[in-house]
Amino acid sequence: MSFVTVAKTGEIPPGTMKHIEIAEKELCIANVEGEFYAIGDRCGHENASLAKGTLEGTLVICPMHSSKFDITTGKKVAGPVLELAGITKKFGGCPEHVRKEMGEMFEGITAAQSSIKTYDLPTYDVKIDGENVLVNV
Ligand code: FES
Repeated sequence: MSFVTVAKTGEIPPGTMKHIEIAEKELCIANVEGEFYAIGDRCGHENASLAKGTLEGTLVICPMHSSKFDITTGKKVAGPVLELAGITKKFGGCPEHVRKEMGEMFEGITAAQSSIKTYDLPTYDVKIDGENVLVNV
């Protein structure tokens, strides 16, 4: 492993994240109030890109099912939110048989998703050299 330049500091303003692919790894680089961190960019639930999610302080929130990870440790803080009610409400104006079929379909999907475990993410050391962001990969 060695440090490799992955971005310029100006490309990742405070409160934002950036997806990086390097050394056959996908990383999420985050700037938390001027401190840079790097974790694996594939959600430990169903592989969504966390860099496309949101950053609230040191918490990265997955764009798919809202699992939360601490960007400083890679640890899962909260698992996925799988809400069937919100999905089935979208079909409220549909005929009864369509609502029933859609409800059954999403119920099956939600049941399958709820059995998928959510894992912690790898972390990578980050250092700043001038205006370059380097990650140990
Ligand atoms: S893919 Fe991230 S919470 Fe499901």
